[in-house]
Amino acid sequence: MRLFVAVPLPAAVRQAVARPVGALRDRLPPARWLEPENLHLTLAFLGEQPEDRVEELVDALATGCREVPPFDAEMGAAGVFPSHGPARVLWIGLVARQEPLRVLRDRVVAACREAQAPPAHRSRFQPHVTVARCRGRWDGEARERWTTGVPAGLGGPFTVDAALLVASRLTPEGARHRTLSRLPLEAPA
Ligand code: 2AM
Repeated sequence: MRLFVAVPLPAAVRQAVARPVGALRDRLPPARWLEPENLHLTLAFLGEQPEDRVEELVDALATGCREVPPFDAEMGAAGVFPSHGPARVLWIGLVARQEPLRVLRDRVVAACREAQAPPAHRSRFQPHVTVARCRGRWDGEARERWTTGVPAGLGGPFTVDAALLVASRLTPEGARHRTLSRLPLEAPA
């Protein structure tokens, strides 16, 4: 199964993101837009893993996540990947104070390695929620429309109190996500 570990967004935040994004879509070049219920922040992408690895993975992740206290976060500004040239991915940043998100990400990566499922390497952790994958020609003007068309802080602040282990099945209609385990964060006793 194709697995990844993510920070979920509260339903209210997903809806708050969907509204301005829906309004912008018609004024932008073609793109494959994620369903609002699929919006998430990826902490680690594990790719194809044997099903019998899941139990060990959940145990290691549960232990790692328990060592991280819940923290506040908020949607940030809109951006695109790559940072120069035609856009391929449209995203909205996630802003968290005091870097607790990086601590969570480090614990998650360490837990995956411990469970013999090392995540795909990304040179730099840039916390983002992917909103669309671009189709057609996304030039400077389209980029600008996207980055200036989405206000920061959509949906207001929220508390990140768990990570999710998610199975993603690729279908012609897009990815289908299924949560395999909710991994609560825990305040120190
Ligand atoms: P992204 O949002 O940063 O693009 C589920 O497919 C999630 O895993 C996606 O949201 C994507 O994160 C991430 N992902 C998919 N393929 C990946 C890959 N080859 N390397 C790293 N992350 C990947």
